[in-house]
Amino acid sequence: MTRLLVLQGPNLNLLGRREPELYGRVTLDALQDRLDVVAAELGVELQHAQSNHEGGLVDRVHQAWADGLTGALVNPAAYTHSSIALRDALLATGMPFVEVHLSNVYAREPFRHKSLLSDLALGVICGFGPLGYELGLRALHARLVEADPHLG
Ligand code: DQA
Repeated sequence: MTRLLVLQGPNLNLLGRREPELYGRVTLDALQDRLDVVAAELGVELQHAQSNHEGGLVDRVHQAWADGLTGALVNPAAYTHSSIALRDALLATGMPFVEVHLSNVYAREPFRHKSLLSDLALGVICGFGPLGYELGLRALHARLVEADPHLG
């Protein structure tokens, strides 16, 4: 079965309680449960990971690659805007990924308009809250099936 990583960056463990006017009231657990339902529908298995540490995120990308996972859904949170290390990990592994943000980063402070990862991503989804992860998962799956119809 196709296995995919869902990687969440710093402070996303606080989802549901953190700035709910921006990020909503859905907790990380609830978001992951919903994604697992969509994954089951698509016939893929998700591995969920969250870290508040840059190196932890890098390690998780390496681990996913070593374990033969096929792709990733990544919300790098604040590291989107600063992490050359996470960029290099995704470059090194060549893992196809979709970048997801809950909020519309382009409607926020200018420093959030720059992502160090977007040019490596298959695509970027932002501004749709938890639904963005579901859209991202469907898009990632569709692109993987396009590349290898056996995965469908
Ligand atoms: C975020 C946007 C980032 O700018 C911010 O640092 C986050 C969350 C989002 O999902 O909207 O922590 O990635």
